[in-house]
Amino acid sequence: MISPQAGASRSVVPGPPGLPVLGALPQVRKDPLQFLSRMVREYGDVVCLGGVGDKKFFLVTHPRDIEHVWKTNHRNYVKGANFQLLRPLAGNGLFLNEGESWRSQRRLLQPAFHVPRLMAMAQSITAAAEEMLADWQQRIQPGVPFDLEAEMMDLAIRISVETLFGSAVADDAETVNRSVSTAFSILHQRVLSALPFPWWVPLPGNIRFLRAVANLEEVVYDIIEERRQTGAEGHDVLSTLLSVRDEAGEAMPVRMVRDEVVTMLVAGHESTGITLSWTLYLLSRYPQIAHAVEEELAAVLGGRAPGFEDLPKLPYLGMVLKESLRLYPPFWLLTRTPLADDELDGHRIPAGAILLFSPYVTHRRPDFWPNPEAFDPERFRPEVVATRPPFAYYPLGGGPRVCIGGRLAEMQATLVLAALLQRYSFHALPGKRVEPAASLSLRPAGGLWMTLHERA
Ligand code: HEM
Repeated sequence: MISPQAGASRSVVPGPPGLPVLGALPQVRKDPLQFLSRMVREYGDVVCLGGVGDKKFFLVTHPRDIEHVWKTNHRNYVKGANFQLLRPLAGNGLFLNEGESWRSQRRLLQPAFHVPRLMAMAQSITAAAEEMLADWQQRIQPGVPFDLEAEMMDLAIRISVETLFGSAVADDAETVNRSVSTAFSILHQRVLSALPFPWWVPLPGNIRFLRAVANLEEVVYDIIEERRQTGAEGHDVLSTLLSVRDEAGEAMPVRMVRDEVVTMLVAGHESTGITLSWTLYLLSRYPQIAHAVEEELAAVLGGRAPGFEDLPKLPYLGMVLKESLRLYPPFWLLTRTPLADDELDGHRIPAGAILLFSPYVTHRRPDFWPNPEAFDPERFRPEVVATRPPFAYYPLGGGPRVCIGGRLAEMQATLVLAALLQRYSFHALPGKRVEPAASLSLRPAGGLWMTLHERA
């Protein structure tokens, strides 16, 4: 993409005129996806969206510059603003932690996502999907619209609870489910709010949020305590957290264990629930692709429940999932702040600036994605992938801070889709296009109303 400003002084970053202090942020808030996409078309690869002094916002969408910030020069960057709202929930867990403390936590947590652990989790994921299908038999009538997104969120929380805590918490799953749902619905409103008061201001939403966090925390501390007392070992993430030792041979402090499990719950459930929802929606709009998935499932599984060993045998479903994450990356806006001045595409970026990265926008740049609005899993054939720069696609972030749960998320989504799509076909409501609503994550606006039909 050629910047319209090419040839002009490279030290002035192009961007729209806006209010002196807030810059273009009021417009970002109004219709963020359209606005940010327009900025790239009009101003090029690095766009200044205004701000005060060196505290300016820059939109960065070229894979070359993303790679520089996220990988090559990552030590010069911290996460910055946009996920700080999660602090009361996620504490100083991996998602928000920085520097040496982050590095040593990441090293300690990595084994929780190694293949033997994932293999052990696969069974409980399939079991949760089968349980939901049995429940649908009672509750959901073929041909009658229901909110598929609500169902997928519910399932994603159940799966998160199982993979994090194991099945021993069945009694508490409901409290976890309710607390996380409440906290997230308030977080979504807060992201859009023009005046985000700090959490301690006693407004009704804040009180409900902090109460939900407290309820969740109570359950989590109880589970940790019980596990520590019984010494029971499982394949869940909590078992890893309780068994790891740092270089001095010390166990992880309880507060840290709490922060890490709640971080995983927060980072993992919503993104997985959304991915499942968008994928089922896209398949309903592209029947030929849905048919190709069905054929693959029939050939590999022949109606039986999927397991870990089936994952490599379902490459087409894997490509469908990747393409769904291209069009609807759940984390559509990510931020980084440079600790020292840097340079991007010849422009000076001052320390303290807020860099905005939008996988949604980069994933639709026509210079890397021909016909970007079309749902086309063929883009993810290995030989086609090899023609693109690595950071043209980054729904899971990249570099050393790439999503630690990426493989788990992929496994969860593949196993659930394989179970669902063997039993049912899903249909979007005729004439109703579902638009994405961009707040904390990229959810279908107004839910995802669909119908289902049992396969013969
Ligand atoms: C489709 C599902 C998922 C998507 C799209 C997704 C996306 C992302 C992205 C974009 C980041 C980078 C954020 C940044 O650096 O600013 C990230 C980080 C992270 N994700 Fe995921 N995620 C998913 C599932 C999961 C799951 C299932 C878990 C855990 C069980 C998880 C745990 C984390 C954690 C702990 C981090 C922080 C890693 C670090 O900074 O070292 N995610 N995720």
